[in-house]
Amino acid sequence: MAKRFQRARPRPLFKEKRVALLFYEASTRTRISFEFAAKVLGATTTIVHPTASSVEKGESLVDTGLTIRALGAQVIIIRHPSSGAPHVLARHVDVPVINAGDGMHEHPSQALLDAFTILQHKKTLHGLRVAIVGDIYHSRVARSEVHLLSRFGAKVMLCGPPELAPDSAATLAPGVQVTRNVGEALRGADVVMVLRIQKERLAGKQIGVEQYIAQYQVTPERLKFAKSDAILMHPGPIIRGMELTGELADAQQSVVLQQVANGVPVRMAILARALEIRV
Ligand code: CP
Repeated sequence: MAKRFQRARPRPLFKEKRVALLFYEASTRTRISFEFAAKVLGATTTIVHPTASSVEKGESLVDTGLTIRALGAQVIIIRHPSSGAPHVLARHVDVPVINAGDGMHEHPSQALLDAFTILQHKKTLHGLRVAIVGDIYHSRVARSEVHLLSRFGAKVMLCGPPELAPDSAATLAPGVQVTRNVGEALRGADVVMVLRIQKERLAGKQIGVEQYIAQYQVTPERLKFAKSDAILMHPGPIIRGMELTGELADAQQSVVLQQVANGVPVRMAILARALEIRV
């Protein structure tokens, strides 16, 4: 722990719980669900935006974290465009730091709430066939999903063009496979997870937007390759007409809004542990 932090250690007068949300990147689902979760647990919350804080004046991540801690935060939730930023912060503050998505690295609470959602529809993760289609390369969600689902025995198939789903993605966890064929990915799948495609990320790539849609967009016809009771997931935000059809986003098989809703109880569980609250 940094010595200067020890000098600034706050002495709480009351038993109030304080949670700070340090969001260096835009978010709807993660930020709101963490905030609601903290409030349900009785904590006071504050949201720190880089453009409305001293970050804009050049304050470093560590100094911002130490400042928030000195103000009494007992948990810091951070979203940051740089991979590893939560880890850096956690080395300098003496309170739990929760990763709400860092760069292209991980989004662990999203994977937890997705596993929770799957288990509301399937008896077990063990042996489930999970197809993840879209931009695997840039996706922190994909990385966290692969680690968690593989650990619990799911068979994960990643699908996309080589620029967005490189062969090396198969090394993320044992048993993970990569395919370029969406029909092969979806065949017999219990869970179809679609990831956002950002048009700007296709700029300069061999595959263009029209070609991506033609080859990889998840459509009602393609979803028929999956099991009849397969569920369709998407961590959001959804770009209708890009990675999946708008019709499919609203289809009966879609559990997208259930994923969003599950963000609150799952993040309550994470915060309860971090704040040492017995629920
Ligand atoms: N799934 C997800 O992380 O969404 P937000 O960017 O809206 O938080």
